[in-house]
Amino acid sequence: MKTHILLTGSSRGIGAATASLLGNDVRVTLVGQGTRSGIPADFTDPAAPQQLWQQALDALDGRIDVVINNAGIFEANPLDAEHDDWVEGWERTMRVNLTASAELCRLAVRHWQERKSGGRIVNVASRAAYRGDSPAHWHYAASKAGMVGMTKSIARGYAGEGILAFAICPGFTMTGMAEDYLASRGGDKLLADIPLGRVASPEEIAAIAKFCALDAPPSMTGAVLDANGASYVR
Ligand SMILES: NC(=O)c1ccc[n+]([C@@H]2O[C@H](COP(=O)([O-])OP(=O)(O)OC[C@H]3O[C@@H](n4cnc5c(N)ncnc54)[C@H](OP(=O)(O)O)[C@@H]3O)[C@@H](O)[C@H]2O)c1
Repeated sequence: MKTHILLTGSSRGIGAATASLLGNDVRVTLVGQGTRSGIPADFTDPAAPQQLWQQALDALDGRIDVVINNAGIFEANPLDAEHDDWVEGWERTMRVNLTASAELCRLAVRHWQERKSGGRIVNVASRAAYRGDSPAHWHYAASKAGMVGMTKSIARGYAGEGILAFAICPGFTMTGMAEDYLASRGGDKLLADIPLGRVASPEEIAAIAKFCALDAPPSMTGAVLDANGASYVR
């Protein structure tokens, strides 16, 4: 029986690498904002996560075994913006990065409880959850710290029902999200802070996501896996 996976943010970057690494042993439903085949979902729309869940269930014969919450945004929100604009920027990042993931986690947990089947959640958070981020990215760090707290709560709450939850905290990873940021911070100088001497590749993060989705032993539930070239060791 193939594992049924709902993977968000699959159109590019880490999500696209994860989709190709998962291969043919699983049935994956891809989610992007419509830039690639799969179910389009724009998480700035509060109705989107629930609609997506239903559409994904329909596409996967009513059974989802794994949810990988990977979609995310990294938008600058300068402190000196107009107050209302700053609040809007905060809420937009929270909605896309945290609230949409939370809704999918909730729907997944309830689905697995009803089916008495167990299941796995993989939340792609960030090094920023622990280390914090730049002055223009309070919201990003807070959204990812929220994901980590939520993951641990799910792991503790439902392990006895076979529902497992993992979080991944990548450092800089060479995708569209990091490229502009790296360039704006003078690339090489930033690399000097990474003992490994380079940023992560999307394929490296995808390998961790695949492991958590399919193979990680149940006793690992609640684990937060760092992948940052030792740039932040905790
Ligand atoms: N790259 C890094 O350095 C890094 C570091 C730490 C953590 N992360 C985390 O890793 C995850 C993937 O990042 P990435 O670097 O692969 O990002 P990316 O290349 O920018 O891709 C982001 C993905 O999220 C989707 N997405 C963006 N806004 C969305 C929305 N409103 N509704 C639904 N989907 C939306 C995009 O879909 P469309 O293509 O349709 O827009 C795309 O598939 C994110 O959660 C990010 O926070 C990344």
